[in-house]
Amino acid sequence: MMTLDELRTTIEALEGDLQQRLATINDDASIDAFRVEFLGRKGRVSQLFKRIGQLDPSDRGKAGQLLNGLKQTASAAFAEKEAEAQGARLAKQLDDEQVDMSLPGVHSKLGYLHPLTLVQREIESIFMRMGFSVATGPEMETEYYNFDALNIPVEHPARADWDTFYIDEKTLLRPHTSPVQIRVMEQTEPPVRIICPGRCYRRDTQDATHSPVFHQIELLWVEEGLSLANLKHVLEVFTEEFFGEGYEMLFSGDYFPFTEPSVQVHIKAPGASDWLEIMGAGMVDPAVLSAVGYDAERYTGFAFGLGIERMAMLKYGIDDIRVFLTNDLRFIRQF
Ligand code: FA5
Repeated sequence: MMTLDELRTTIEALEGDLQQRLATINDDASIDAFRVEFLGRKGRVSQLFKRIGQLDPSDRGKAGQLLNGLKQTASAAFAEKEAEAQGARLAKQLDDEQVDMSLPGVHSKLGYLHPLTLVQREIESIFMRMGFSVATGPEMETEYYNFDALNIPVEHPARADWDTFYIDEKTLLRPHTSPVQIRVMEQTEPPVRIICPGRCYRRDTQDATHSPVFHQIELLWVEEGLSLANLKHVLEVFTEEFFGEGYEMLFSGDYFPFTEPSVQVHIKAPGASDWLEIMGAGMVDPAVLSAVGYDAERYTGFAFGLGIERMAMLKYGIDDIRVFLTNDLRFIRQF
């Protein structure tokens, strides 16, 4: 048997222990031990509940109240400690996972455009601003477009000038971009204003200004009333835009079967002693216009084929064409 007073004393003692234990709680293990000791199924509070039956029946209601109060105190204390521990765990996790925003990032290296690409794009954009559009043609070309349609019949000695790498009897790697002129004129009625950039191949021995693989930009303008004076003007505007001031241009006579008259253009960089040949040009031969069905009495036109490597050499002061092909990054990174 137990009296209500005895129960009260026991509860007070237990509350004393409970406060003491709370003061010593410092980690997850001690919180858990606290829970088991006071709130567990076989814990001290449960044990007291079991003893209600030993009390006088008239005291049992009161005892229940007292014990519920005790249970609430223990539960609240446990919940508070548990919340504190959770907060500490979160703070530690945030601390551990902190990102240092001041650390330098991972840089991926950017690629560089090859100087020939830069020069080609710049030439294209100058002529596009002047109203020319860009056309392209195949690098593997037929003899017809490469020679016959350009007024170079089979026995003509000029074939030897552009003799190149043949794929089969009738197909070759184009030695110039002029065949694109024919391909475009076959598809278009005048006026025609185009440029055609592209790769060319020749059996040239490599030296400082020649490469067996190189690039040209072809230009073709066909309309009524064009003369050599228009060609000269277009070239003057273009070279000034591309190079800036101080570059000199020299026209001299030349021969191409598909232009009449034909000229050669040389350019000299400021302070340089040598001229560099950059293009062949001329008034489109009436025979070429007639062959594509144009009225050669009505229309005239001019054309040129410009070496991109040579333009880049003049612009950047490069004295050997071979540097474009050696893949030396120290060279490419300068552009
Ligand atoms: C021609 O190729 C003619 N088709 C140009 C033309 C077009 C004339 C339209 C009239 C009308 P030529 O062979 O001169 O012409 O070459 C033109 C330019 O290409 C040269 O001035 C030079 O800048 C460049 N070139 C020619 N061969 C090479 C080479 N092996 N390496 C680098 N550049 C070259």
